[in-house]
Amino acid sequence: MVLTLDYTCFVRGGPQGEVGVDPEHLEQAADQHAEKLSSLKGKRDSGQLGFFDLPDDRSTMAACLEYAESVSGRFENIVVMGIGGSALGTQALHAALSRPLHDSRLPNDRPRLFVVDNVDPSLVGGVLRVANPETTLFNVISKSGSTAETMSQFLLFLEALKAAVGDSWRDHIVVTTDAQQGFLRPFADVHALKSFVVPDNVGGRFSVLSPVGLLPGALMGWNLPQLLEGAAHGRNRSLSGDFAQNPAAVWAACHHLLDTRCGVHSQVLFPYSHRLRLMVDWNVQLVAESLGKVDAQGRRIGPFPHGAVGATDQHSQVQLFAQGPRDKAFTFLRVLNHKDDLLIPDHPQGLDELAYLSGKTFGQLLDAECRATQLALTDAGCPNALISVPEVDAHSVGEFLMWSMVATAYGGELYGVDAFDQPGVEAGKVATYGLMGRPGFEQERSRVEGRKISDPNYRVI
Ligand code: PA5
Repeated sequence: MVLTLDYTCFVRGGPQGEVGVDPEHLEQAADQHAEKLSSLKGKRDSGQLGFFDLPDDRSTMAACLEYAESVSGRFENIVVMGIGGSALGTQALHAALSRPLHDSRLPNDRPRLFVVDNVDPSLVGGVLRVANPETTLFNVISKSGSTAETMSQFLLFLEALKAAVGDSWRDHIVVTTDAQQGFLRPFADVHALKSFVVPDNVGGRFSVLSPVGLLPGALMGWNLPQLLEGAAHGRNRSLSGDFAQNPAAVWAACHHLLDTRCGVHSQVLFPYSHRLRLMVDWNVQLVAESLGKVDAQGRRIGPFPHGAVGATDQHSQVQLFAQGPRDKAFTFLRVLNHKDDLLIPDHPQGLDELAYLSGKTFGQLLDAECRATQLALTDAGCPNALISVPEVDAHSVGEFLMWSMVATAYGGELYGVDAFDQPGVEAGKVATYGLMGRPGFEQERSRVEGRKISDPNYRVI
């Protein structure tokens, strides 16, 4: 069972009308496809784009499963410390592949999973209060092995763990980091901690199918073979030389043309699925950090990735989508078969107006809302596409993850930027080091403290 992409309403003159990709431009994109594909393949062949090959790395998957098996039944909680690409994929997979509301159930057949992706003390302290270190496994994830947010959490949880379990703290920590760089790798080596490697040629936001996502997945019992199989399938389709049969290339080209030629600068991923809701956050980071860049000509470029969740956001954002500016491209994710579907019961006397709901299922209602909203936005002249997902399972999720990553890589080729760096986040990081008094960043501290960005004339006190 595979995903399908219908982009009829992305194309100008389609059912949504005049806001859309000019068919001629799409033909030009098809003509350029061989060149873009060969550039990507070249980068892959030269070993720069390791994410393409993660679905084939069955030995890493086996190592994650083996470790999970070795600690099976020992822990009530898994606490993942990580941020950005070291957290969002795991959160999205947990929402998609664990049982709904998994963490609120007790007792549980699998541990609860807490992904601590912020340094807000209310989150970090909150996790510390609910996850007793004695029954918790801490997975610290940082590709660079030095990210301040993750390191500060690590210091806190490490101290709590040592206080709670003494010398056996080592059995409660598993490290996922680069093979060489950063502070975590030598720490793991010195203390003989269990550790996994984030491959050097896999960037943070492209790392969900490495031990970054696979290890929590193994511990949580997600179907990893299916996940990787789906990803491999998605990858193979996304490398097709036939543009019209290549979902990632078509999706990327349409988004690029909508942004650069049609004034449609926002991309809204709109899953009609509670399970897929966190794919939105994962995708936002993927697109934003990869494509929001200064290009070789010094132009600031990049689409604005955004998200909505059906049916929830029908009662929040759809008003804007339907009647606000037509500067957004929507991609609906429609789930064809909702597992665990529920029947809406017969209406009691006095609620006859609800008869139309009785006997239908919640899945039917959600699906009707998805179709209806797509139609409503089409009628409102908004460009949109539809990805049909047979069912939310590991295979389809793996395929979608890979489509998105490959589409983003194509986006880099189309915009002419490096989709795999993130120079724009450096300035804030360095300024934080200065403010926090990290040795070597003294000048930055004086610069930040001396810089005036507030004028008393423009303050409301
Ligand atoms: O995609 C990226 O590279 C970033 O979002 C990183 O994942 C994020 O900054 C965390 O970095 P690290 O894993 O090195 O702690």
